[in-house]
Amino acid sequence: MPRPDGCLIAASILDSDLAKLGDEIRRAADGGADRIHVDIMDAHFVPNLTFGWKTVEAVRRVTTLPFDAHLMISEPSRWSRMFVDAGCESVTFHVEAEPAATRATLEAIRAAGADAGLSVKPGTPLSALEPYRELLDIVLVMTVEPGFGGQSFMADVAASKLRAARAYLAAGGACEVQVDGGGKRSTAEAIGREGTDVIVVGSALYRARDLRAEVAAVRAIADAARAAGERALAAQG
Ligand code: DX5
Ligand code: ZN
Repeated sequence: MPRPDGCLIAASILDSDLAKLGDEIRRAADGGADRIHVDIMDAHFVPNLTFGWKTVEAVRRVTTLPFDAHLMISEPSRWSRMFVDAGCESVTFHVEAEPAATRATLEAIRAAGADAGLSVKPGTPLSALEPYRELLDIVLVMTVEPGFGGQSFMADVAASKLRAARAYLAAGGACEVQVDGGGKRSTAEAIGREGTDVIVVGSALYRARDLRAEVAAVRAIADAARAAGERALAAQG
């Protein structure tokens, strides 16, 4: 998984029409999304409850797009393997969730053939990722408190963490900084200029009148800002 050239859009299905989840995933795929982002919540680590691995396994069949699982659960060590087996190309869980098992869980995800990631809540410093540096294919920076879609983007968190998160990715090959929470047209510039690789977009896509236009607009704004950000960095030497 080399670093993408531009910003990729991961469609979060949390706020899609769950009565027709398969169709909603197909709609994101047909609309140009690059990934499907599935939010797994256990009503314990976060105050909300969503999908289990059986649901993911079922809907995974409707598209060939990669699936990123974002586990917001208290026991990732117990469940992460199921999401790999359900067909997810990557499994990301929270560094705050289960400290004694974090290393073994990252190793198990990779051994099962998926990319492994850690996510940090807005209040958690990136330094919490330090012990796992060599194991991280993905760092997912939360720019809302995990649990619900449709919340406001925390611009201060984005500015302080997104570019800095790159330093925690494993050296060589696989490497992505993802941002999750409040991704949309009006925040894409702030996200892109920090060199972010993947923007999770939930409510902004599924509430849009024209999903395809929304994907294209968010990507175009983020890409332009990302290119400008890289140029500015290069100019600084
Ligand atoms: C929140 C989830 C997000 C959510 C994003 O805990 O992790 O993936 O779906 O939704 P928006 O894009 O509406 O902030
Ligand atoms: Zn998420």
